[in-house]
Amino acid sequence: MADKSMDGLNTFTAEVEAKEVTGRKLRVAIIGTGWIAGSHIKSYLAQPDVEIVAGADLVPGKAKAFFEKYGVTDVKTDYANDEELLADKSLNLDAVSICTYNRQHAPVAIHALNAGINVLLEKPFTVTLDEAIEVMKAEKASGKILSIGFQPRLDANMKKIKEIVESGELGKIYYIQTGGGRRRGIPTPFGTTFIEDETAGIGALGDIGCYSLDMVLNAIGYPKPLTVSGYKSAFFGQDPNYIGYRADKRAEYASKFGVDDFGAAFIRLEGGIVLDFRIAWAMNMDTPGDTIILGTKGGLRIPSTECWNGTVGGPMKIYHEICGQQVETEIPIIKMKEGLFDLKIRSFLDAIKNGTSAPVPSSQIVINQAIIDGLNKSAELGHEIEINIPEI
Ligand SMILES: NC(=O)c1ccc[n+]([C@@H]2O[C@H](COP(=O)([O-])OP(=O)(O)OC[C@H]3O[C@@H](n4cnc5c(N)ncnc54)[C@H](O)[C@@H]3O)[C@@H](O)[C@H]2O)c1
Repeated sequence: MADKSMDGLNTFTAEVEAKEVTGRKLRVAIIGTGWIAGSHIKSYLAQPDVEIVAGADLVPGKAKAFFEKYGVTDVKTDYANDEELLADKSLNLDAVSICTYNRQHAPVAIHALNAGINVLLEKPFTVTLDEAIEVMKAEKASGKILSIGFQPRLDANMKKIKEIVESGELGKIYYIQTGGGRRRGIPTPFGTTFIEDETAGIGALGDIGCYSLDMVLNAIGYPKPLTVSGYKSAFFGQDPNYIGYRADKRAEYASKFGVDDFGAAFIRLEGGIVLDFRIAWAMNMDTPGDTIILGTKGGLRIPSTECWNGTVGGPMKIYHEICGQQVETEIPIIKMKEGLFDLKIRSFLDAIKNGTSAPVPSSQIVINQAIIDGLNKSAELGHEIEINIPEI
């Protein structure tokens, strides 16, 4: 299950169009030098206008070994944590990639924004809605860019979904079913930071659920959520006989598992739209179904993938009527030349250089976070709840 969150998303390519480097290079640091930091550094190294100057990890020696692995020298790593690095004014940082586990998204992002540094924050935005609001307050006060790491939305096929919705081809959207799942796919290839409450805080919901939500909410313009009735469970993660633990001889992972491995919710959105959502790291089923968007003029089917990771799993189909005849139109898959991670890094850097807004703005992703937060709270209370997103 090593790279299930990134299958097909992270195919690194050095084919990013070389930008003309004007002025000095952007000075970048990486905080949290674990698994996903590897994708960040590879993409930064493909950019001609970037200088990687520093890195930090809570585990002593980890950052130094990380940069050595990628052949990056002249980089400062003698920091005990993010705060020490961010306090080092000699670094003169333009940007920081925050690649810490979920529970360390909000504090590190707040520290970086307070230090006046542009932030690329890995997904999920945060663990709770309250944390997301605190980060957004720091973002507003800093005037810096905060972009959240949702690279799947940079896929041309994802953009096509939004294009189809915005073209009016589907008419008024009233119902969406989205989500995805894995039969057995709890991510523990590099330890337990994805499954422990104190590091991850949320499980499948924050790892892959946020991608499913972004797939459809971005397409329909991120309407406000009004209410949510949620459910979550952890039957597989807490089972010492779970096949993934057995394979790795790690039965003790079951007792460390403190997050969700399955979540489902029924969400009412502004504009009379309902959203039926389900996500699984593990279940006794191949997939909980394709994503479908129903509109008054047409319906769009977006095939799921066997191991859900936020990609369009095959040619999409529009079900509609032409001159009284029911027809289906197939939308072929668009092959991408560029790697999505390269695009994610490049779009963040371009926003800094051009003074434009964040490629994946917090103002949208806070809605994604509010739904996840609402699902969690509703599941704990056992009934539907209202969702209120405070104004910043
Ligand atoms: N965009 C994607 O495709 C993708 C894929 C995988 C993971 N992720 C996200 O990336 C994040 C990290 O995942 P990972 O698998 O790399 O985790 P990981 O556990 O391998 O690495 C996280 C690292 O951050 C360090 N850290 C935590 N708090 C810190 C702090 N305050 N200062 C310095 N270092 C700190 C930890 O010691 C650890 O080494 C998660 O939030 C995950 O959801 C995104």
